[in-house]
This record gives sequence, C-alpha cells and structure tokens, in this order.
Amino acid sequence: TVYRAGTTAPVNIAVVKYWGKRDAKLNLPTNSSISVTLSQADLRTLTTASCSTAFAEDSLTLNGEPSDISGARTQACFRELRARRAALEAANSSLPKLSAMPLKIVSENNFPTAAGLASSAAGFAALVQAIANLYALPDSPADLSLVARQGSGSACRSLFGGYVAWRMGKKADGSDSKADLVAEASHWPSMRALILVASAAKKGVSSTSGMQQTVATSGLFKERIERIVPDNMVAMEEAIHNRDFEKFAEVSMRDSNSFHACCADTYPPIFYMNDVSRAAIRAVESINTKAGKTVAAYTFDAGPNCVVYYLEENKDAVLGAFSETLGSTSGWKAGVGSSAGVLDE
Ligand code: DP6
Repeated sequence: TVYRAGTTAPVNIAVVKYWGKRDAKLNLPTNSSISVTLSQADLRTLTTASCSTAFAEDSLTLNGEPSDISGARTQACFRELRARRAALEAANSSLPKLSAMPLKIVSENNFPTAAGLASSAAGFAALVQAIANLYALPDSPADLSLVARQGSGSACRSLFGGYVAWRMGKKADGSDSKADLVAEASHWPSMRALILVASAAKKGVSSTSGMQQTVATSGLFKERIERIVPDNMVAMEEAIHNRDFEKFAEVSMRDSNSFHACCADTYPPIFYMNDVSRAAIRAVESINTKAGKTVAAYTFDAGPNCVVYYLEENKDAVLGAFSETLGSTSGWKAGVGSSAGVLDE
C-alpha cells in the first residue's frame, strides 16, 4: 500500500522583516516579524507526501530534480512530524504504522525558482503541511508553524493566510516561537502585491548566512532589534487592524530600509539591492508624490527583487507608472491569499 496526501502552500512577503537568529539550531529569531500571505492562484508550492514500506528510503524531488534531504532542517521536520504521528499510533493500535515507513515527497513551484524569489517559505510550509495531512495530525496551523520554523524561519508564516505574525517567543526550547493570525485575508482583501524581477540571478549571500554575519558584526542591528522592530510591530498591527494603508506603507518601507541598512552595516557589508532595485524605490516615491498621498509601498528581501504593495483601487496609478518608469510591469501580480492546506481561488 502507498499512503498519499497533498497540499499547496503560499508565498509570504514580510513587511516587518525577520533578520537574525538567537538560536541557529532551533531557528529562533532575534525579533518578531509580520508578513502578508500572497494568493496561491499566483504563487504557490504544490507538494505531495507519500509513504510505503515498499519505498527504500526517504526522498525529496524539487521541480523534477532529486534534492538532498540530509540537511539538519529537513531532518528536523521529518523527525518532529514522525514523533507526532508515532504518538497517535501509540494511542490507537488500529492505525497503520506510517511513522515507521520511508517518506517520498514531491514538490513543485508554479513560479520559476530561478527568478530569485524566496521559495523556501512556501517550500517548507508545504512539506510540513503535506506530511501532517498524510499522518492525519490534529495539529493546528500554529502547532505546525513550530515545525515549519525549523525548516526555514519565514516558512512558519506560510501556514496561515492573510496577515500573519511570527512571535519570537522567549523560551530556550522554542516552544513559544510560532506564527499567529493578525487578520484574515478577507479583513483587507483589496491589498495587492506586484513583484518586480530586478535580477533572476541566484542571490549572493543566503539569508541564513547573511543574518548570522549581521548579528555578529553590526552595531546598528542592536538598535533594530531593541527599538525599531518592536515599534514597527505595534504600528504594523495597528495599521492592518485599521486598514490604514498610509501607515502600512510607511512602516513597510522604513522596516525594509532599516533591514538593508543593517546589511550595509555588516562587516564586510552585504548588498542585496542593485541599481534596478533603487530605481524601483524612486519610482514608488514619484508615484506617491504624484498621487499626493501614499498609494504604493516597496519592500526588499535578501535579494534585488522589489515587492510593491498597493490597494486595488489605486492600481492604475501604480501599475501605469511602473510600465512608464521601468519599461515594463514584468513579474507577478498577486492578491492576498489563504493558508497552506487549502486549494484556494
Ligand atoms: C529577508 O526564512 O530564508 O526574507 O530561517 O535561515 O531559512 P532561514 O531564513 P529565511 O529568511 C528570510 C529573511 C527575509 C525576511 C523575512 O522573510 O522575514
């Protein structure tokens, strides 16, 4: 017998950034963060998990290519999920012993990985949700976010749709470092994201290693985690609750700038943005000046690609200006979407 289950998981783009680990092994962050989950109709990872005594060993296929599963992060996810299944099997002897069978995971993105878009968040969220479905685990999205976090920090936020916080937690064992819902997608459904591809090249410094260099060498970083991020978390949650786009936008842009300033303050410095990225910032500024109010917000992760948040009612001002100033609106447009585990839209 082959047991099988599947899921899709969304991409999320942070508006208050996670940057820095206080425990690299458990993947515990130095600060809380907030993201917007993008619509899976536009960007998603589709993953199936199967298990059988007929399989020789655990395996993972990513976009058609065999992928290494020996890494500590993937192993931690497998181990955690098997332990949860084993507990169910111990309590109910009629359940098949899936926890003892080799796993076969097959995962595909509907967007090119080569485009330099962060796919680890959707990837690990889908892996965890697919295995949880296969194992029929009763765990809530918050419970599963604890597992996904160990695969990739940002992945814990993709277990929820809408507007999502990752609370850093205080405990040494990480049991309180998990995601929770700030607001459902339906609370503010007119939010849109435009993803501009500034370079399809693979990023130079991975986020995992970049953030560790920042923690170790940046003086500015201390100010960021002690004052700037805690203030941004409060302001961002308020902005989302009140559907206050101007505030949402200002906090997003300031937080992205603060994160990239810490990268520049890392020694030796890390530069993720390029000339196209900076042109996108100028374009957003001129859109807002022309509109006489803030209708667009930029944010950048650990790479040069720009994500612009805007509201549907302002799409002409925003998308029109991007085709004028940057020559095209190439990339992706996405709405705010639902969580892992649901085939939405
Ligand atoms: C800049 O989640 O990729 O996108 O936990 O080491 O896998 P690891 O890092 P990762 O870092 C994401 C950093 C970011 C900001 C964010 O998504 O919050």
